[in-house]
Amino acid sequence: MSEFERAELRAFIQALPKAELHVHLVGSAGIDTVLALAKRRPEAGVPTDREELARFFTFRDFSHFLTVYWAVGSMVRDRHDVHTLVTGLAKDLAGQNARYAEVTVTPYNHLLDGLPGDELLEGLATGRAAAAAEHGVELAWCFDIPGEKGVEAGRETLLFALRERPDGLVSFGLGGPEVGVGRAQFEPFFTAAREAGLHSVPHAGETSGPATIWSALHDLGAERIGHGTSCAADPRLLAHLAEHRIPVEVCPTSNLRTRQVESLASHPVRRMLDHGVTVTLNTDDPPMFGATLNGEYLGVAETLGLRPAEIAQLARNAVQAAFLPAQRKSDLLAEIDALVTTG
Ligand code: HPA
Ligand code: ZN
Repeated sequence: MSEFERAELRAFIQALPKAELHVHLVGSAGIDTVLALAKRRPEAGVPTDREELARFFTFRDFSHFLTVYWAVGSMVRDRHDVHTLVTGLAKDLAGQNARYAEVTVTPYNHLLDGLPGDELLEGLATGRAAAAAEHGVELAWCFDIPGEKGVEAGRETLLFALRERPDGLVSFGLGGPEVGVGRAQFEPFFTAAREAGLHSVPHAGETSGPATIWSALHDLGAERIGHGTSCAADPRLLAHLAEHRIPVEVCPTSNLRTRQVESLASHPVRRMLDHGVTVTLNTDDPPMFGATLNGEYLGVAETLGLRPAEIAQLARNAVQAAFLPAQRKSDLLAEIDALVTTG
């Protein structure tokens, strides 16, 4: 691809209105924000120097990534910290021409780290209002269970979500390690969350095999799958996801940085698309991984040699898979269509 073609591709991706469906609040903290927090909270052990932080954000494997992620999360202690994270994310999203994002928040971990629940909720509310007013970005929340903390975390996360039910809360999730953390143990909490009208969006198949994805579907009523990379190893699962139009929130750079895949060329996203799975592209924890939403689109488009209409389809997938009202979806889809017909 020539430099000119690449610049055109970049401009096309930038112009696409996008929805980000898989991004964690703590993992969206910009480098400057992390450095500022680290200076205020030295006990967390997060580097205060830019180069050291870059080394700190070089992950040996997935469990090392989680250790680092938890250290960053432990520095978030009051409503101002939360507001700073939310507005920082909104600014970054606006820069990517992302109009809407579903942001994963892990209340149980924040409460354990000494961030009071009302401070968390206040920071989310003021941050969300500022995101809309100042950046034109609509944010929705997914409250997720930190799986490694077991059923107690499941129960507490459910109670917090249903008791507080903040504006913008649309879904219920499950994150953390997968190996040794069976999805099925969280079935009662997902059932109750779904009965209360929250959508089910667990992580599954990021660091374990297709059986975890099947369990997320059967036991947790998953409406979308977080990561889902290992579905590529199971043809029956690929067919099931395609047939039932269950979207997969693919986060390619995340999988590279946590060393779950070796290269973009060998990433299962190709196989998912070949089997007709509804793929959405997402960043997961963007500054920690050096990822941007446009970068994910560019990387996949270049690696797979996608045409503009195929790239636009990925943006359409995210809008269609979003928990947005029908009118908002059709407005965004119309904007995408206009770009493809004029582009
Ligand atoms: N997987 C599980 N838990 C997480 C992730 C992830 O990719 N990012 C932040 N918490
Ligand atoms: Zn994630």
